[in-house]
Amino acid sequence: MSNPKKNTVEEILSRLTVKEKVGQLIQISIKDPDLIEKVKSGTVGTVILAESPTAGNEVQDKVLLSELNAIQKIALESSPALPLVFARDVIHGHRTVFPIPIGQAATWNRDLVKKGGEVLAKEGRANGIHWTFTPMLDIARDPRWGRIAESYGEDPFLSAALGEACITGIEGQSLSDTTSMIACAKHYIGYGAAEGGRDYNTTEIGENTLRNIYLPPFKSAVKAGVGSVMASFNEISGSPVTGNQDLIRRLLKEELCFEGVVLSDWEAVAELLFHGVCESMEEAANLALNAGIDIEMVSTCYEKHLEKLVHSGSVKLEILEDSVRRVLEMKLKLGLLENPYTAENLGVDVYLNEHHKKIALDSATESMVLLENKNNLLPLEIELQKILLTGPMAHAREELFGTWTLDGKKSEVESLADFCKSLQASNITIGESVLHSDRLLKEVLDHEITLIALGEHPQRSGEMNSVSDLSLPAGQLDLLKKVKGIGKPVVVLLFSGRPLDLSEVRLYADAILWAWHPGTMGAQACIDLTFGIESPSGRLPVSFPRSVGHLPCYYNYKNTGRPHTRFPSNYIDSLSSALYPFGYGLSYSKVKYSPISLSKQEKKKGETLTASISLTNTGPVAVQEVVQLYIRDSKSSMTRPVKELKGFQKRFLSPNETVTVSFTIDDSLLSYYNHENKWVVESGSFEIWIAPDSVTGESVSLDFI
Ligand code: BGC
Repeated sequence: MSNPKKNTVEEILSRLTVKEKVGQLIQISIKDPDLIEKVKSGTVGTVILAESPTAGNEVQDKVLLSELNAIQKIALESSPALPLVFARDVIHGHRTVFPIPIGQAATWNRDLVKKGGEVLAKEGRANGIHWTFTPMLDIARDPRWGRIAESYGEDPFLSAALGEACITGIEGQSLSDTTSMIACAKHYIGYGAAEGGRDYNTTEIGENTLRNIYLPPFKSAVKAGVGSVMASFNEISGSPVTGNQDLIRRLLKEELCFEGVVLSDWEAVAELLFHGVCESMEEAANLALNAGIDIEMVSTCYEKHLEKLVHSGSVKLEILEDSVRRVLEMKLKLGLLENPYTAENLGVDVYLNEHHKKIALDSATESMVLLENKNNLLPLEIELQKILLTGPMAHAREELFGTWTLDGKKSEVESLADFCKSLQASNITIGESVLHSDRLLKEVLDHEITLIALGEHPQRSGEMNSVSDLSLPAGQLDLLKKVKGIGKPVVVLLFSGRPLDLSEVRLYADAILWAWHPGTMGAQACIDLTFGIESPSGRLPVSFPRSVGHLPCYYNYKNTGRPHTRFPSNYIDSLSSALYPFGYGLSYSKVKYSPISLSKQEKKKGETLTASISLTNTGPVAVQEVVQLYIRDSKSSMTRPVKELKGFQKRFLSPNETVTVSFTIDDSLLSYYNHENKWVVESGSFEIWIAPDSVTGESVSLDFI
């Protein structure tokens, strides 16, 4: 049967010159001084709406829809007469800003992450943007790396599940809907393993770890139909990803059958020269296209050299055409051939509407993790206490947005102070916005409880913002010590883009509510949780280390040959475990877990079984419990982690309610890539936990025969 879309692509391809074909693979910046000339000459395929290589940390011009439509008109009047695709980093919300991705990961709520994707796509597309460079699926095991803020944390399963949710939300039912965008799984692959946590740094990843730890989120993104993948800046074991045929063409395109577009990161094709694997931009173009990079972002190796390389036969025409086909298919899927322009009034009822704000509020609320709550200090009773709100983040507005917020506006976000004022609660005093510690201590003395808002400025995390010290920013711990020194209860509200070293903070805090950078509705979420209007349900998507010296610190480590015996692999000067483990978080209730029951104790290949548990909310308030399934492959032909997350459910429980929670275990949950890179399940025993976090609970055994 003939496929009309395929026919259209072939028809377009047949009428393009080689130069025009190359043009489809070129992505230029909206700020390129020659943009209009290049579009007129028909040698641009897509436009990135960013001005600089580190747009995520800088103020960018807002998107001007009329300008985009005008540029589109020029493209359609040029010789290839093909529409442009406009791309922008709409990372965690457009006008309605959601928590940073690691905060969204802390919700452990697929549905909320999906809805976040939907909102982002609706608002972005209404602004004329067709393509967003999110979600970031890099496994992030090192909090020194500033881009941990953009990740879903340290775990392959959680990242895969939430990545899939985000992609399906962004891409919707059909990409031609004016409510959808093309998503981008980035950065393929291993970028988060940067040595020392220094952005862009060298990585050394063995093939087995690459496939079992770093690949799974990309594998499920491809399965979920993601439209694009961005190659990462880094090298892996001596080979820059941007020029790596094995990783892009063979693994991603052939083995995983990815049919969408692969693009380079910003100027990464030209950066192959700095990596030292080629000597000229011509060589870089040759290397990258052959590796499978369809679109070159911003640098001009393809623009200047690809046509020549095709004519000389160094790059085969069929390789070029395979890439062009992918770009044309993207344009077709977006419906741009029929509807190339975006209506000017699409955004009116969309930006920051009440529905979007409500989803952002739910997301912010569920993202926050209660790390400490001594003597059940929280929730505070709003009517009863004389409360002081103070600290360097108490008056923060756009600082609550977090890194990579290009379109959120300061006027559209409330600070904690603003929100508390709006409550008109006479028992809450808002501390001064300029902190004079002498005056502050006097205020602390005059109140019963202090809420102190501490944390990182968002420009301390994100791209190119790695740190060597995970303490609170300068002066904040000292301030906290002094405040606690007054002798009254202190609640720390902590905003951050990365896990910090809280080993001292927790000594001086009676409660710690970890709030990440929570977005437009963050202040309300924080106060709602503090006063018990909501019960905390966030759980850590990443382990919190005891210090920088404890890095890397992740829960799914290997057992080693000497775990607990005479020569254990431990530190002699401190505990080796995480300070707060992966999956951890408190609530305002207590949930009791029964022992696990398995529907059978033995499993054969192809069979499934059910692991169940009953949960009872024994505490005073309703909660949402994140029930986590962990599996250990106890005997296998290669070493395997001590535990791996293989399922999770977020369940609502009223006080005294008991529910049964079940997980289906099939071969896929027991499989891994072996030494031959084959996806296998091997006979032997497995341990299974259903638990509230990665360190609690008793396991049961399952035999795979
Ligand atoms: C970042 C990408 C981003 C791109 C475009 C790069 O510096 O690594 O994540 O999508 O810029 O702004």
